[in-house]
Amino acid sequence: MKIKQCESPQNIDKFLADQLVESINENPTINLGLPTGGTYTPFYQTSVDRLKQTNTDTSSIKTFNLDRYYNQSIKDHSSFEAFMHRHFFEPLSLEKSQTHFPYFNSDDDYGLYDTIIDDAGGLDIILLGIGVNGHIAFNEPGTPFNSKTHKVALTSSTIETNKSFFNPKEDVPTEAVTMGISTILNAKKVILVAKGFSKANAVYDMMNHRIHESVPSTALRLHENVEVYVDEAAGSLI
Ligand code: PGA
Repeated sequence: MKIKQCESPQNIDKFLADQLVESINENPTINLGLPTGGTYTPFYQTSVDRLKQTNTDTSSIKTFNLDRYYNQSIKDHSSFEAFMHRHFFEPLSLEKSQTHFPYFNSDDDYGLYDTIIDDAGGLDIILLGIGVNGHIAFNEPGTPFNSKTHKVALTSSTIETNKSFFNPKEDVPTEAVTMGISTILNAKKVILVAKGFSKANAVYDMMNHRIHESVPSTALRLHENVEVYVDEAAGSLI
């Protein structure tokens, strides 16, 4: 696990946006695992700008979102689909066939998302944030490291944090569908970003807690190609 502490969160966004442009130019059919949330919102803006400025061809990339809320209309402004459309898909005019979310007819079928990813050639790069409780995607503490995409009951701490994205706050979903830990570990390269003091403990535990399912992010220490980017606040305990 390589960790880089950056002077400002904006420096992380700019650096990763440039990396994304380079990666797409090197591999125009790249498969990207993509997050939603506050950490990455400015990154998407910067990336769209850079991709357009450099006339990078995004017509053959494929995106696979990490997770989605359960029992929520995709038209809802706070849905992860709506987030991705606003911040990335629409500005880049991506075709629907290029973008993927874990939707299946039966709750027992979510593991098929892993098959679809594998059939597409696997994830070349997956971008992750981290929860204050150490979750990655929506893999909450206690998730088995061999888990594939599955349905989860969110913890009270995650539900509390997510309330800030909902109005009224009571609309916050309590369940989700997420790539599993093994889905994440199967990606060729993992990039994790943490910003702000609220993530400092989670970053410390990811690096120092024994590798254990009680801290999902410690699973990343089993992967040989992980880059972690933190701002000064998120890296203040390491
Ligand atoms: P955030 O979410 O980017 O909104 O902080 C990160 C996460 O919970 O994984």
